[in-house]
Amino acid sequence: MEFKFDWEENKEKLEDFKIFIKENRNKQGALMPVLQKAQALFGYLPEEVLQIISKDLNVPLSEVYGVATFYSQFSLIPKGEYKIGVCLGTACYVRGAQDILNKVVETLGIEVGKTTPDRKFSITATRCLGACGLAPVLVVNDDVYGRLTVDDVEKIIDKYR
Ligand code: FES
Repeated sequence: MEFKFDWEENKEKLEDFKIFIKENRNKQGALMPVLQKAQALFGYLPEEVLQIISKDLNVPLSEVYGVATFYSQFSLIPKGEYKIGVCLGTACYVRGAQDILNKVVETLGIEVGKTTPDRKFSITATRCLGACGLAPVLVVNDDVYGRLTVDDVEKIIDKYR
């Protein structure tokens, strides 16, 4: 699923961003802070923005992509309004977390790491969330749901639709 970057909607942010690039252009290792700024401003790293970075910093686009995909703090797709995280840590895993995750994938019709076309939901598999006593655990933004069964998944997601 491709997400179109809205130039008009992001006009002011782009202006801020251009100024930030200008201020940092001649500094050593400018790529990292510039990518961090872009992620903070736009919530993800749109392809169009990566092209601007490549051009303005005079860094090959392949290198910009290389760094953007290497670090998990960066995302190339927008995250959903509701970020669903299913814990695949050991305690959750042995209590059926994979089935919970499969059910989330089936219910939303997107894969792990992806966002629904309406940008409402995104799914991630997480490490231990520190709530092992509640295993298996799923979070929706800051809401924690524990001791889940596969049958609970749809009801939880419905609350956010
Ligand atoms: S393993 Fe899932 S919360 Fe710890």
